[in-house]
Amino acid sequence: MTEKEQQLHQKAYQAVHEKRKLVESDPYRQAFHLMPPSGLLNDPNGWIHWQGTYHLFFQWNPFQPDHTDKFWGHVSSEDLVHWREHPIALAPSEWYEKDGCYSGSAVEKDGLLHLVYTGNVKDENNNRESYQCLAVSRDGVRVEKKGPLVDTLPEGYTAHFRDPKVWQENGRWYFVIGAQTEDLTGRVLLYQSDDFENWELTGPLAGSGINGLGSFGYMWECPDYFELDGTGVLIFSPQGLETRGAHWQNVYQAGYFLGAADLNAPSFSHGEFIELDEGFEFYAPQTTLDENGRRILIGWMGVPDSDEAYQPTVENHWIHCLTIPRELKREGDYLRQVPVKELEALRTGEALEMKADPSRTPEVAVTPASELKINVREAESFQLELRDEAVFSYSASDGLVTLSRPAFKDGKTEERHCYVENLEEVHLYMDHSSLEFFLNDGEKVMSARFFPKPENNVIRIRGDKGSMHWTSWELSEE
Ligand code: FRU
Repeated sequence: MTEKEQQLHQKAYQAVHEKRKLVESDPYRQAFHLMPPSGLLNDPNGWIHWQGTYHLFFQWNPFQPDHTDKFWGHVSSEDLVHWREHPIALAPSEWYEKDGCYSGSAVEKDGLLHLVYTGNVKDENNNRESYQCLAVSRDGVRVEKKGPLVDTLPEGYTAHFRDPKVWQENGRWYFVIGAQTEDLTGRVLLYQSDDFENWELTGPLAGSGINGLGSFGYMWECPDYFELDGTGVLIFSPQGLETRGAHWQNVYQAGYFLGAADLNAPSFSHGEFIELDEGFEFYAPQTTLDENGRRILIGWMGVPDSDEAYQPTVENHWIHCLTIPRELKREGDYLRQVPVKELEALRTGEALEMKADPSRTPEVAVTPASELKINVREAESFQLELRDEAVFSYSASDGLVTLSRPAFKDGKTEERHCYVENLEEVHLYMDHSSLEFFLNDGEKVMSARFFPKPENNVIRIRGDKGSMHWTSWELSEE
């Protein structure tokens, strides 16, 4: 470790130490979602199941609940339920990353963990440079920086060039990276290498003006490419899409294309962009293929350039969390997201079973960390009021799902929508300050942070016709 690196680590630990009590006093700390020990967390990074252990890194500003500094924090788990905190993985100590160790990914090579990430550099006039860097770990904890692997930008592209996602296929290494052309269109570029040292740009895999895609935003961040069930999947987070009716209402989106890619002569013939999550907070997801063959996605439960700073946790010196791990399953021409099975281990005690007659408005007191499964097959319409703060509603006549809550900035009610033709089951993971709805076994997903009064634990269910069957579990706070 260089001296500069050591100093930055010390400074960060000191900052966490000083704020820990304040952070832990916050009523909105989560029970089972990953959060920063203090400061700000954003994208999941370096997500990998390596030698029997799940390693997860994350964009982290240990000093402030804002986006000024970017380190890589690190946690690991054997079971996706219990997580261990590790020392800082990356601090922006070197010239090629001095303004942030930005997002990236992990892969195993020669038995070693290889982290490939973007070194962000800005000069005094805010001109950017971008370096794709390597860091290696033998034991999965101590990380040694190796410097830039790719230190030039391709012609015709700006320095908004970041977030390499690396993988190996047929003996060859690849990465996709988020990019922006000089005329401000978003793209994903594909690089390849035979030795992990010399990387060659082979072409754009997808983007505005490619494969028949029209204008589609000015920048694409955090790409991820893999095959699921024989189909190519390209996940990315485009910036600059206009709201379309009930869709794309957040500042930025995260979603995917399904199709058939040719990695040798890069091209990707794909279908429509499908949003992964239609709630309020979701961005920059990353997947990994685990050692059991599951493709598991984790996202950031936040959106950049939104009204983040108004979240109430900021005054207690922390902000944001990650989503729960979700297994991706292909269903024809779309993907389902299903909470990983391991999360059942969070359930404490017996399930509470209830036959709810919504015309009588049953009120149920739940613990803030709860899992609910509601069978709504018979309902024409219904509404779930969550701790007097958020409302989830559904109308069978048009399939419209609405999630509403008070906006962080001014408290005015804001809504997000999605459509589900025949809603049969609502599966909710509720934590102290978040909601994740999985509709019809993950056909649609809506995630949101919410900040109800800590003492209000009442959920009400209302509706017009039919009855609903409700099962709920208290989830572990440990
Ligand atoms: C996405 C993103 C990435 C970047 C990182 C910086 O949220 O902007 O493109 O690498 O965050 O924290």
